[in-house]
Amino acid sequence: MSVYVIEGGRTLSGEVKIQGSKNSTLPILAATLLCGGESVLFNCPRLSDVEASLDILRYIGCTARREGSTVIVDTGSVSRCEIPPTLMHRMRSSIIFLGAMIARFDRVRMSFPGGCELGPRPIDLHLDALREMGVEISEEHGELDCYVSDRLHGADIVLPIPSVGATENIMIAAAAAHGVTTISNAAREPEIVDLADFLNACGAAVSGAGGSTIVIEGSSELHPATHSIIPDRIVAATLMSAAAVTGSDIRFTGIIPSHLESVLPVFRDSGCDIDIRGGGMRLIAPYRLTAPKLIRTMPYPGFPTDAQAPVMSMAAVADGMTVFVENMFISRYSHVSELCRFGADIRVEGKVAVVDGVRRLLSADVSARDLRGAAALVVAALCAKGASEIRGIEYLERGYEDFELVLSSLGADVKKV
Ligand code: EPZ
Repeated sequence: MSVYVIEGGRTLSGEVKIQGSKNSTLPILAATLLCGGESVLFNCPRLSDVEASLDILRYIGCTARREGSTVIVDTGSVSRCEIPPTLMHRMRSSIIFLGAMIARFDRVRMSFPGGCELGPRPIDLHLDALREMGVEISEEHGELDCYVSDRLHGADIVLPIPSVGATENIMIAAAAAHGVTTISNAAREPEIVDLADFLNACGAAVSGAGGSTIVIEGSSELHPATHSIIPDRIVAATLMSAAAVTGSDIRFTGIIPSHLESVLPVFRDSGCDIDIRGGGMRLIAPYRLTAPKLIRTMPYPGFPTDAQAPVMSMAAVADGMTVFVENMFISRYSHVSELCRFGADIRVEGKVAVVDGVRRLLSADVSARDLRGAAALVVAALCAKGASEIRGIEYLERGYEDFELVLSSLGADVKKV
């Protein structure tokens, strides 16, 4: 069990390059299965979730190696068409392999990814869509047994909710299916656009990604590609929160400002001075933050649910009251009880959390229970005077690359023990 010990209350300074996006890397690694041969992915973050995906590819019979931030995957030879429970349970989003595997093999077995710290993580939208594309799927005892008796074919899919993972699974399967697939009410996240860019680099014909309707014309001629992963907008928002709560002046490089459009107003409303220039951004925090008032999580381009926890740590020390409404997941407030141990004043009622900002947080010993909750606790500890201990850093390492080194490079006193 990894632990951070953070001596908080220090002002940070300097410049940080934002890592590649976890939520873009995972579906693109799955999509490499569509094109037998060697694909090269640049700007791939070193994360436990990425390692879990590479282990799934290796288990299937592919080779995968890392050279710094470049990952080279050769999916030319495959030998297994199932993913065992041990690998499926290491990472909840391993369901993203289903579309790619069903496109590569005619029969796929994998266990249900199950729930996670955010509550049940249903996959009904993934399965309904693949059934419309000709996949026979039986679900028994947590096992998925998928079979294409005739052939994988295009379909007109209407998603009741713009599910990111379901959109990605459909895009990947459709890229290799016979005929045309349309996805209505598709997710619009930047990671969807990045996946479409990779699929098109492999010779697919994907259009409309980033909008609510995506059209994919299937091809049997997909080939390996080289691609650079987009920066991680949630890691950027997390470091912006760290800068904001420590009264710091930080420069961010390697970002795509348009991906931050829904979070920038929250930081500006809180009194941060943000200057966007080229591919970079400078954030100068005020002496005292002003409460952002209301934050509702919504599908992109709304405020991202993944930024809710780190931004709540910022609201915890802002002057005034902030109301959070978490619309995406039923239990994404596990960090609240831990933030209250730092002296935060937060009350939760269902999907609403009311944060009454306090002047300062006090050091505390806390435990993380999920990825973005862990990030929120780190942000709070950076702000709290004195030494804080955060257990459960393995959650953080699912999505934040070398985070203690990143924070130390900005002047924070963070030790991983
Ligand atoms: C992706 O999860 C991200 N993960 C999540 O990031 C992110 O929070 C989420 O999208 C929303 O933006 C990856 O990209 C690997 P959804 P995903 O399907 O695809 C319900 C992080 O912190 N739903 O858009 O699982 C679901 O329960 C992680 O990096 C169904 O009901 O999210 C949720 O309430 C956490 N049936 C809502 O839709 C389904 O078949 C949105 O989920 C699928 C989803």
